[in-house]
Amino acid sequence: MKVLVTGGAGFIGRWVVKKLLEEGHTVKVLDDLSNGNLDNLSEFSDNPELTVKTGDIKNEKTVSALFRKKLDLVIHLAADIIVQDSIDNPRKVFENDVIGTFNILEASRKAQAKFVFMIPSLRQVPSPNFTRQKPHPRMPVRNLPAKTFPSLIIMHMVFR
Ligand SMILES: NC(=O)c1ccc[n+]([C@@H]2O[C@H](COP(=O)([O-])OP(=O)(O)OC[C@H]3O[C@@H](n4cnc5c(N)ncnc54)[C@H](O)[C@@H]3O)[C@@H](O)[C@H]2O)c1
Repeated sequence: MKVLVTGGAGFIGRWVVKKLLEEGHTVKVLDDLSNGNLDNLSEFSDNPELTVKTGDIKNEKTVSALFRKKLDLVIHLAADIIVQDSIDNPRKVFENDVIGTFNILEASRKAQAKFVFMIPSLRQVPSPNFTRQKPHPRMPVRNLPAKTFPSLIIMHMVFR
């Protein structure tokens, strides 16, 4: 298969790329290196089945160029995962994770490529029986990374 891995130079992406290459797939990575590192992929630099593009999922031209050749599968891992960023600069994180995700989803839909999305951990979501014993006025209400719910809604819209 021909696979695009967004965020492929990141912590999880590196292992996904490794596994895909081991299984004989052709892999393209798109990563802006905002939190990733090309060193994470240096082990595979001699592998002709890997190409790495440094670029931003928010840039529609960059994204559409990657979809010009047929892709079978898109594994979308690019995201701003730094919790503090979403508190200090929620707009930046929203644009990165939601608009960026939309661009990748829309390009995948047009290309009829299958799409895999890594949903951030749900462990911080209160269970139905959750009661907060001691509410604190300054307790952050943020439970999930900014992208989760908007991105799920976008996925529903794009793949409806
Ligand atoms: N690490 C975990 O324990 C964990 C658990 C559950 C879900 N996830 C999810 O898995 C995904 C990957 O997480 P990770 O831990 O590998 O994070 P990471 O920060 O190591 O990897 C994300 C990669 O995306 C890149 N990136 C960010 N914004 C980009 C943009 N606009 N354009 C292109 N590339 C961009 C970063 O440079 C980085 O290499 C995220 O969606 C995260 O929410 C991670």
